[in-house]
Amino acid sequence: MRIWLNGALLDDEATVSPLDHGLTTGDGVFETIKVENGRPFAVRRHLERLVRSAVGLGLPAPDVAAIESGIEAVVEPGMQFARLRITYTGGVSPLSSDRGTSGPTILIATQEIERPSATSAIVTVPWVRNERSAVAGLKTTSYAENVRALAYAKERGGSEAIFANTIGNLAEGTGANIFCVYDGELVTPTLDSGALAGVTRGLILEWFGGVERDVPLEQLFQAEEIFLTSTTRDVQGIHRVDDRELPAPGTITAQVAKIFAERSAAEPNP
Ligand SMILES: Cc1ncc(COP(=O)(O)O)c(C=O)c1O
Repeated sequence: MRIWLNGALLDDEATVSPLDHGLTTGDGVFETIKVENGRPFAVRRHLERLVRSAVGLGLPAPDVAAIESGIEAVVEPGMQFARLRITYTGGVSPLSSDRGTSGPTILIATQEIERPSATSAIVTVPWVRNERSAVAGLKTTSYAENVRALAYAKERGGSEAIFANTIGNLAEGTGANIFCVYDGELVTPTLDSGALAGVTRGLILEWFGGVERDVPLEQLFQAEEIFLTSTTRDVQGIHRVDDRELPAPGTITAQVAKIFAERSAAEPNP
């Protein structure tokens, strides 16, 4: 595995302090970037969101130029399909919720991964996305709720868990945004639902169009089509939501997937 840590390419020699605030409290932010055929996709948008998340969490704004050179260092031309992860934490700190003064930790790592399956199943979970949380909309490393929910979905045969928010509206998955089709119209929850501003979600709204509105969770079971979007999935049709089967990929899902594939191949850093 290629690992760049605080300015140096260290690979398996990379180590982080046991007092790192990212480890002890989840005080950090991250990005996942897709690397396909040796080329990282949408780096500019991911770095913009990394900066927004860091500043939103009260961390110093990351050194974007340093991170860009870290990305260059870990990406290899032979990489077929890989996840590149940037993790940026509060750094060495006291064993409490107080942040230390050592400065942040920046870690960039890549890992080859399986390509996603064409369609998948989702499972709604009995927990909520808190759209009023202090970290709503920030891509923080505090992902334990997502880890728990994803395991719940996998135990029930799904590949992704779906959260409603505190007022019963559809929000998102543990690592994906959600789109539904109603009367032939593409709909996705607003960012006020507590959903992350996914890079893939944003590109689909720009390249294909669609309506952002509140979707009561019950309406998930009336959708004509459903698909998930994320950095490693792109557009993934959903063939089952809990016990309800639906056609996948549906007509509109297939159109969106085609447009996304064409546009993203033509514009690697849109
Ligand atoms: C909670 C959450 N929602 C949505 C997404 C999708 O965002 P993106 O399309 O930028 O990968 C992610 C990230 O991967 C996520 O972690």
